Amino acid sequence: MSERNVVLGVTGSIAAYKAVDLVSKLTQAGVSAYTVMTESATKLVGPASFRAITGLPVASRMFELESTFSIEHVSLAEAADLLLIAPATANVIAKVAHGIADDLLTCTALATRAPILIAPAMHTAMWENPATQANVKTLREQGIRFVGPAVGRLASGGFGEGRFAPVPEILGEALHILGQDGDLAGKRIVVSAAGTREAIDPVRFVGNRSSGKMGYALAEAARDRGANVALISGPTQLARPSGIDVNDVVTAADMLDAVRSACNEADALIMAAAVADYRPESAAETKLKKSEAELLLRLEKTDDILDSIRDVPVRVGFAAETENLIENARGKLEAKDLDLIVANNIGGPDAPFGSDENRATLVDAQGVEELPTMSKRELADRLLDRVRDRLAAN
Ligand code: CTP
Repeated sequence: MSERNVVLGVTGSIAAYKAVDLVSKLTQAGVSAYTVMTESATKLVGPASFRAITGLPVASRMFELESTFSIEHVSLAEAADLLLIAPATANVIAKVAHGIADDLLTCTALATRAPILIAPAMHTAMWENPATQANVKTLREQGIRFVGPAVGRLASGGFGEGRFAPVPEILGEALHILGQDGDLAGKRIVVSAAGTREAIDPVRFVGNRSSGKMGYALAEAARDRGANVALISGPTQLARPSGIDVNDVVTAADMLDAVRSACNEADALIMAAAVADYRPESAAETKLKKSEAELLLRLEKTDDILDSIRDVPVRVGFAAETENLIENARGKLEAKDLDLIVANNIGGPDAPFGSDENRATLVDAQGVEELPTMSKRELADRLLDRVRDRLAAN
């Protein structure tokens, strides 16, 4: 994302303060965000906040942009890889829909050839008003995308549709659009994430400590590089990433079915999920009572998903080991005929469960690459570099 420019249009909605968080997340993702504020937005939140976070100029009035941009609206419009209007009022949506260009933001919207993404935020009645709905329809027909509004509590005290979409959702959509011509454009990548759960009775299960963070980081990184991503997820607390087709499953058997159907015409399968190797032979239909001194659970093997899906050009596995890391990883690489395996040492205090960081070793037929500790997102990108190279070599 390091060479991508977003023009962030902030308009006079009460949600304008949330745009500060949004611009911060965009900046953290490596995007250069140039903020353009409407006059009324500047009454709700100060331009200095955006300037401080982005380190880039903030503009509101035409011909007053404190930057190298010469003819402001035109140069901003041309520099943009995405115009993101967040939050967008009914008024600005109406102006953009009708080609009205009476301030820097609406001029930029009219002059840009970049994709436009709009995150509306307004009172429910204004959102539902037929005039607004007609304007939204007009814009959608022109290919302009919308994220939200969400349903929830509104600044007016009421409850309904019109709330600014959650920042991670807007960020996800924005990165998805920015990544569309990335190095995985046109590739279909199936990622599995989180642990499966195998029922013991209606309330208890056999599970594991996987948080799902590695798989979600992979899915988001692939999305941001232009891939068409299918994410098959076990139960997790993580927010659903936008721009990704998510299929929620619970058991290893469900995951097998979901991964198999997602793999139809897939270019790569990355199994980051911690799939149960064993499940109770049968789950009790009613809750087990602690009447006995001991309880014996008979477990049976589940199917190995990665091993049984072989007709995908590039297949990547994870090996979670407490000993003989490389040797065991290499054994799995060969046994499951994988292109690459990501070996994680899960013994000791550095176990990656639930952490945002991971220390992994990549093992393939060519050799072993020990990576330093890095964020799961960075690791995801390193892994996807390998997937991309492998796809190119095929
Ligand atoms: N895997 C799978 N289906 C299973 C079990 C594991 O697809 N039923 C995948 C995992 O998602 C991972 C890889 O296989 O990508 C390795 O999983 P792991 O549990 O570490 O290894 P196993 O082969 O199950 O061997 P062991 O448990 O003996 O270490």
